[in-house]
Amino acid sequence: MANIEIRHLKLIDTVAEVGSLKNAAEKLFLTQSALSHQLKEIETRLGTQIFYRVNNQLIFTTSGKELRDASKEILERLEQAENNIQEINQDSIKDYIHGYSEEETIRLNDQANSIAELLHCDSKWVEGSLILEAGCGVGAQTRIIAKNNPGSTFVSVDLSTTSLKKAEESIKENDIKNVRFSTADILNLPFKDGHFDHIFVCFVLEHLLHPEKALQELKRVLKPKGTLMVIEGDHGSAYFYPDSSSAQKVIRAQVTLQQQKGGNPNIGRQLYPMLLDSGFTDVSVSPRNVYVDDSKPELLDGFIKNTFTAMIKGAGEEALANKIISKEEMNTGINDLYNTAQGGGTFCYTFFKGVAVKG
Ligand SMILES: C[S@@+](CC[C@H](N)C(=O)[O-])C[C@H]1O[C@@H](n2cnc3c(N)ncnc32)[C@H](O)[C@@H]1O
Repeated sequence: MANIEIRHLKLIDTVAEVGSLKNAAEKLFLTQSALSHQLKEIETRLGTQIFYRVNNQLIFTTSGKELRDASKEILERLEQAENNIQEINQDSIKDYIHGYSEEETIRLNDQANSIAELLHCDSKWVEGSLILEAGCGVGAQTRIIAKNNPGSTFVSVDLSTTSLKKAEESIKENDIKNVRFSTADILNLPFKDGHFDHIFVCFVLEHLLHPEKALQELKRVLKPKGTLMVIEGDHGSAYFYPDSSSAQKVIRAQVTLQQQKGGNPNIGRQLYPMLLDSGFTDVSVSPRNVYVDDSKPELLDGFIKNTFTAMIKGAGEEALANKIISKEEMNTGINDLYNTAQGGGTFCYTFFKGVAVKG
């Protein structure tokens, strides 16, 4: 055995696809010299030449063709196994309260857009940083932070392949070039210790049975002195005018449902102690208050209707099925939430944004 490794097969497969050293290096996020070095390594290990270099193009030799065909076959089989494993993983996210519907994709994008300035006015990292975005979903926040930090590279991961595909499409549509996507579980990340300069997490910890385990895993892949930025909501912070016991009830139903699934929709208020307990230092948490009245028509739609009420509505069927609330109570509650956006109403909600350092 010549000790050919999977990374070598990926190189060969990429060269076969794009033809030139320059394009292959770009696609693999490597410098041309690093790529040349690795190709040389493959040739040394095999004891034979696998390419002719003609006018910057790489042409496979007969041995190279053999390796190219084997690479394609092995990688395809591996991808198939990874997809199968993803399907098995899907079982572990079936309890995810918001689900992965088209409505939820729209809601996540509305949410990110309507409060982009409030949440991201200070989501800035030193140029050249390598940043992990854990639980990127459909890329709603990815789009904003990657655009605001064009000099940094983002590795955005999620458990859901369906969401990642949508995220990839959205990033492509927006012509954003500094993001790579990968399937990964935040509790078991496929990265070495201290791999990232910084980490960003938004609206994910609230869904985890053991957020403290996720924080440990994130700390592991963070460089010493690197920062973790976390944004979470807190459904206990919602109050509005006109007040309505039905609306309060329907929000409580969503809280109960999420708690039954092992999550914590009121996690925002716990960010500070959680980050400290997980061993982070220099922890600072700032409340980000969304206040909506008639003078902010974009938030009447973008936040009250399309973000908050859409979220409550989205979990409605399951709350009904689990007998947490009756259909009548739910309809009245949702109607009353919409009412706060119908003229003369107001709405308040607080997000919490924490930044902490790996000491
Ligand atoms: C409410 S969405 C937030 C998505 C995105 N951060 C945003 O703010 O638009 C939560 C995301 O966390 C992902 N998620 C939940 N558990 C996860 C885990 N263990 N590992 C990785 N992602 C996870 C879900 O698949 C979902 O896409």
